[in-house]
Amino acid sequence: MNERLVAYLDELDERTDWHRPDAFLVRADAADRLDLGQVGLRDATLTRRVVRLLDALDAVDRQLYESLRERIRAGEGRQALAPWLDVGIPSGQHYDPLDALLAGVLALDEPLPDARPLPPEMVFYQPTPARHIVDGLARGGITAADVVLDLGSGLGHVPLLAHILTGARCIGVERDGGYVDVATRAATSLGLSGVRFVEGDAREADFSGVDVFYLFTPFIGTVLRDVIARIEAEAARRAVRVVALGPCTRTFARQPWLVSDDPDAEAAERIVLFRSV
Ligand SMILES: C[S@@+](CC[C@H](N)C(=O)[O-])C[C@H]1O[C@@H](n2cnc3c(N)ncnc32)[C@H](O)[C@@H]1O
Repeated sequence: MNERLVAYLDELDERTDWHRPDAFLVRADAADRLDLGQVGLRDATLTRRVVRLLDALDAVDRQLYESLRERIRAGEGRQALAPWLDVGIPSGQHYDPLDALLAGVLALDEPLPDARPLPPEMVFYQPTPARHIVDGLARGGITAADVVLDLGSGLGHVPLLAHILTGARCIGVERDGGYVDVATRAATSLGLSGVRFVEGDAREADFSGVDVFYLFTPFIGTVLRDVIARIEAEAARRAVRVVALGPCTRTFARQPWLVSDDPDAEAAERIVLFRSV
């Protein structure tokens, strides 16, 4: 077992490919293998070698994150992130290296825990896997002319990435003020003046002027029904799009005033786009 780990450490010492800042996926794979190699490892010298290499991989990652952050501040985020945006047909709710890259680039602080219990029918925080965000932006046809509202925005991955990649004006509404503070600080540190976060209940948020509503199943039951009724009222005034992920997709698929881009929307394992009719 240890021989294989030693051979891999020797190999990484020899290789130079992972030193290139843009070789993020190579480093992610190496870090995974080293983490796995550390499980049950009792040899202190070998453990130190693994930790040193993990630190070295992390140091190059940090260089990459900083250079991407600089390019985002310069308004070149889309081009800078382009090498990692070929997400194919995404499925599943697991996280992958694109999420790790996004976490490094957005550099979100750890939020303070919310002391209030989660009210009934409201769903705890879980971020949309980044590949689904990228897929949703493309399928939703989101452009700089759109206003996007993420209902239950958590730490803000969706509004932040949506703005970086499309230039759309993006708003997140979130009941947990700790998440709102973290997301707001991330937007400020990246110079993203087209993104803002509002603390509040999605049922009372300002929907006027919103073109695209994004929901990663933030609530269920009557809360979801109340929000859908408000979106429907907006759709009576202008065309709107709903971009949905997770179980709430089934409820949207049953709305007669929406048509979806997926004939099997109720069973979809990826984002579904709905347009008002
Ligand atoms: C599944 S997470 C989605 C987070 C984010 N939209 C994303 O996709 O990365 C649901 C979020 O909705 C928030 N939430 C739940 N009910 C809410 C409500 N009534 N109003 C505002 N936010 C709510 C939760 O606090 C949580 O952060």
